[in-house]
Amino acid sequence: MKKLACALVGFGGIGHHHASRYARCKNVRLVALCDIDPARLAEAESKTNLGSSGTLDLAKLRLYKSYDEFAAAEKGRVDMIDLCVPTYEHARLACRALRDGFHVLSEKPMALSLAQCDAMIAAAKESGRTHMVAQCLRFSPVYGALRAFVEGGRFGALRSLSMHRVGAMPWSKWYYDHRKCGGAVLDLQLHDLDFAVSLLGTPSAIRCEGLRGPSGGWDETLSRLRYPGAKAPIVTTAASWLRAAFKPGFEAVFERGLLEYDGAELRAFDAKRRPVKLAVKGADMYGLEIDYFADCVRRGARPERCRPESTRESVRLALLQARSAARGGAWIRT
Ligand SMILES: NC(=O)c1ccc[n+]([C@@H]2O[C@H](COP(=O)([O-])OP(=O)(O)OC[C@H]3O[C@@H](n4cnc5c(N)ncnc54)[C@H](O)[C@@H]3O)[C@@H](O)[C@H]2O)c1
Repeated sequence: MKKLACALVGFGGIGHHHASRYARCKNVRLVALCDIDPARLAEAESKTNLGSSGTLDLAKLRLYKSYDEFAAAEKGRVDMIDLCVPTYEHARLACRALRDGFHVLSEKPMALSLAQCDAMIAAAKESGRTHMVAQCLRFSPVYGALRAFVEGGRFGALRSLSMHRVGAMPWSKWYYDHRKCGGAVLDLQLHDLDFAVSLLGTPSAIRCEGLRGPSGGWDETLSRLRYPGAKAPIVTTAASWLRAAFKPGFEAVFERGLLEYDGAELRAFDAKRRPVKLAVKGADMYGLEIDYFADCVRRGARPERCRPESTRESVRLALLQARSAARGGAWIRT
């Protein structure tokens, strides 16, 4: 089957990282780039806290300086858009692109408010086009291994899950305004919250203690997700933009074993804490999520692994966490 043609809109930090993945995608190829900053369209490489994006041959791509210019030239030639613009533009541009007839993969967080999330869901429904939010951890082989241990029961029931994602303030100016980015609680902590909820479902209550930081919002957070039942796991997520180096990771304690991920390596230990061999390969989660989305589009299938309704639920819970932080860490029923 022919590969889909994709245009990437928002060629900044994560845009570069996405763009460099297309060379290895089976279902889709990158044909165009769009960014309102002409300087970005001249940069073949981006260096962010995720490391170097790798280099791209820009001469092979059609370049546009606005969405309007792009859509006028590419309607009917491009199948899907990979939307990597700042968060405050997600809903507006995703709705516009869906109504223009493009399938849309849009970056996380889905949007800044539930009303915006609902507008995106409605635009996809009305247009009949496919939409998915790029919650990349759902496509990570490492987090996939955690899911397999929880769902497959190899170490018995999950007793505790502690997830973290900390680092410095991101690279662009708009992150210094929580009204544009949502603060670390929505932008960064959401990754682990979304994964935990995709794994364990919506908790019955949630609480979050937070410190305000450079965004003016909650940029250092420690959250608890409460699940009902005497044997329910203890679940925490921690996030920060007030640290130096970027460090994601988790510890998952099971009845008869332990999984530990330090951002580089996933290790497993049995009940006596002896190492257990695992065969989890590297984590090109961005390439895997792009290819999964393109495959759904080609098959006319719903993106069941990351449905927009489920990413809306994660935004809803992150907004409740922000509310809890504003109330000094009070428990909030979900
Ligand atoms: N999945 C991940 O791991 C991950 C990592 C980083 C960022 N993100 C998310 O990706 C999004 C982008 O973040 P970033 O750090 O790459 O931002 P960035 O500021 O580095 O890049 C955004 C780019 O979009 C361009 N842009 C802005 N408005 C535009 C418009 N209307 N049309 C076209 N281009 C426009 C800007 O000029 C810029 O080049 C954010 O929502 C962020 O939360 C996700």
